[in-house]
Amino acid sequence: MDERLSEGFKQAMRRVASTVNVITICVDGQPMGITATAMSSLAMDPPSLLVCINRAAAMHGSFKDVTHFGVNVLHHDQAHFAQMFADRQKADLRFADGWHLDCERPPRLLDAQASILCRRIDHHQFGTHSIFIGIVEDVVVRPDIDPLVYLDGKYGSWAD
Ligand SMILES: Cc1cc2nc3c(=O)[nH]c(=O)nc-3n(C[C@H](O)[C@H](O)[C@H](O)COP(=O)(O)O)c2cc1C
Repeated sequence: MDERLSEGFKQAMRRVASTVNVITICVDGQPMGITATAMSSLAMDPPSLLVCINRAAAMHGSFKDVTHFGVNVLHHDQAHFAQMFADRQKADLRFADGWHLDCERPPRLLDAQASILCRRIDHHQFGTHSIFIGIVEDVVVRPDIDPLVYLDGKYGSWAD
């Protein structure tokens, strides 16, 4: 690996602002989730998006088996969810509070900036990650727009 190039790429990515999402699935009654900035809309026809999940993440092995996944775009006041879903030591606490959980659908975070239900239709493996593509089937949005933003390794707000 070219160290200079990988450090340059990291530095470039520190300058890219992203919204922060918790991607969720439910498998055999077991909710699972991960903090992910690697989410992008894909097309409007059909409405679709993609997420990139590290193959080392706990949920990765189950992702190929589910019919649906959820994208919960975090609001600025939900940074604690970003921290919890990026910390394996907090795995037991992740769904303790604040979720609509019935496992008929993937877990939906109450008061998220937006919650997008997707039918998983395809995936591609690339390097350390898999790219999962979903067709959008349902959307819930919170009216005020102030998403949690990740930039230069820090959480912030568009309004800051
Ligand atoms: C701000 C932020 C963004 C992240 N984005 C991604 C991502 O897009 N995809 C990914 O696989 N992991 C991402 N991670 C890392 C995972 O959230 C983290 O490794 C998590 O602990 C993995 O889930 P697990 O503990 O259940 O295995 C991100 C972490 C942070 C803090």
